[in-house]
Amino acid sequence: MSRFLAALRGEPVDTTPIWIMRQAGRYLPEYRATRTRARDFLTLCKTPELACEVTVQPIDRLGVDAAILFSDILVPLEKMGIPLTFEEGEGPRLVPVRDLAGIRALKQPEPDELRYVTDAIALIRKALAGRVPLIGFAGAPFTLLTYCVEGQTGKQFAETKKLLFTAPAAAHELLTKLTDMLIAYLGWQIAAGAQTVQIFDSWVGQLTVEDFRTFAVPHTERLIRALKPLGVPIIYFGNDAAHLHVDAAKLGADALGIDWRAPIDEVRARVGDEITLQGNLDPCVLFAPPAEIERRAADVLRRAGKRRHVFNLGHGILPPTPPEHAQALVEIVHRLGR
Ligand code: CP3
Repeated sequence: MSRFLAALRGEPVDTTPIWIMRQAGRYLPEYRATRTRARDFLTLCKTPELACEVTVQPIDRLGVDAAILFSDILVPLEKMGIPLTFEEGEGPRLVPVRDLAGIRALKQPEPDELRYVTDAIALIRKALAGRVPLIGFAGAPFTLLTYCVEGQTGKQFAETKKLLFTAPAAAHELLTKLTDMLIAYLGWQIAAGAQTVQIFDSWVGQLTVEDFRTFAVPHTERLIRALKPLGVPIIYFGNDAAHLHVDAAKLGADALGIDWRAPIDEVRARVGDEITLQGNLDPCVLFAPPAEIERRAADVLRRAGKRRHVFNLGHGILPPTPPEHAQALVEIVHRLGR
C-alpha cells in the first residue's frame, strides 16, 4: 500500500508522506500553460482531459505521495441552482442565497450534472497507473454555506452570521441540504476511483467553539458517518481552527488537517494518538532559501515524532512560490522522515 494511505490509517511507513494543498496551481508554469488552453478556470475544471493533465503535473515534477483531483469546492453549488463565475483575479462570485425561500428553491444535483468530475477521476486514475493514490474532495457544509450566503469569499462573514444568529432554523435547513449534496457527491467521487477524500473547512475558524458545536459539528459528523461505510480514509481540514481541534478530532475522520499556527506537538497532546495529523508548515516558508526550509521542515517532523503524520503546508501553496522550493521540500521530508 502507498505510504500516504498507510499513514492515514495509522499503519507503519518507510518515510513521512507529503502532498501539498493546491499543488496543481498557478505557481507551476505547466499549469499556467494548460490554463491558457481553457477559456477560463471553470472550463478547466469541467474538461476532464485538462483537469487530468494539471492533476498529474505536480506528481511528475515534485515527487509528492498523492494526487488531488483538480476541481473546486464551489462547482457542485452551481448544480444546486446557484450561478457561479470566477472573475480573473477576483475570485469566485455567486448569486447569494440569504432567505428561506432561496434555500428551499435549491435542488440536489443529478449524477449526470457532475459527470465531468467523475470522468476526470477515472482519467486521472488511469494516468497515474498506481504511482500514487488520488484524493477526492469537497467543501465542508459550513464553508459552503459561507459561499452561498456571502456570494464570495467572506471578509467579516457578517451575512453568514446574520443568518446563523437571526434565522438558525433556516441556516440548519441550508446546512442539511448541503450535507445531503455532499454525501451523494463524495460518494460518486469514491465510486469513480477517489482513494481518500478531504473535506475542506476553510472558514470554520470564524466560529466560536460553541457555534462550531451548534452549526458545524452535527452536519459534518453526519457527512463523515455516511461516508465511513464506503471504506476510504477521510481527512477533515480546518483552517485557522486551533481553538476547535479537540472537537474537530472527534468528528470521526481518520486524519485532521491543521494550519501552521499551532505547533503540531501541542495539537497532538490535545487530540490524542488515535488520529493522523496532516500539516503543518507555514506556506510562506517556501519563499525562504532551501536551508531555512530544511530547518523549519525538520522542526515540524521532530514535533510530529513520526506518529501518524502526513506532511503538508498549513494551507494552499501561494502563486509566487518558486517550484524548485516545493521540490526541495518534498526531498527534505522524504530524507528526514526516514
Ligand atoms: O489542491 C489542489 O491542487 C486541487 C485543486 C483545488 C482548487 N481549489 C483549485 C483552484 C482545491 C482543493 C480547491 C479548494 C478550494 N476552493 C477551497 C478550499 C481550500 C482553501 O484554499 O481553503 C476554497 C476556499 C476554494 C474557493 C476558491 N477557488 C477561491 C477562494 C478561489 C480564488 C482564489 C485564488 O487563488 O484565485 C478559487 C480559485 C482556484 N481554485 C484556483 C485554483 C487552482 C485559482 C484559479 C486560477 O487558475 O486562476
